[in-house]
Amino acid sequence: MKIHVIDRAGRAHELEADAGEALVNPLSFANLVEATCGGACSCATCQVYVDPGWLERLPPAVGDESQLLPELLNTQPNSRLACQVLMSPALDGIRLTVAPEQ
Ligand code: FES
Repeated sequence: MKIHVIDRAGRAHELEADAGEALVNPLSFANLVEATCGGACSCATCQVYVDPGWLERLPPAVGDESQLLPELLNTQPNSRLACQVLMSPALDGIRLTVAPEQ
């Protein structure tokens, strides 16, 4: 499955992910996010802005993600933590932008 990403410098990337894989994995592998907590939903370095039209295809943020997002400085209504989003066929081709560093 494809992921279309705009990095913090404004460069476009096309990444690959498997179904069931956390969205943060290919982002981290490509060095586009730090993911310093290893996907434990505590560092927020994996924050992304999901493009309109894709956001509603994601399950809503719950649990730790829904608690952490309001505490961040640079969130937008379309912010998500990539470590909490699992890829699925419905998300093939998703477009997102990596949020600025905290
Ligand atoms: S990788 Fe740390 S919050 Fe997502």
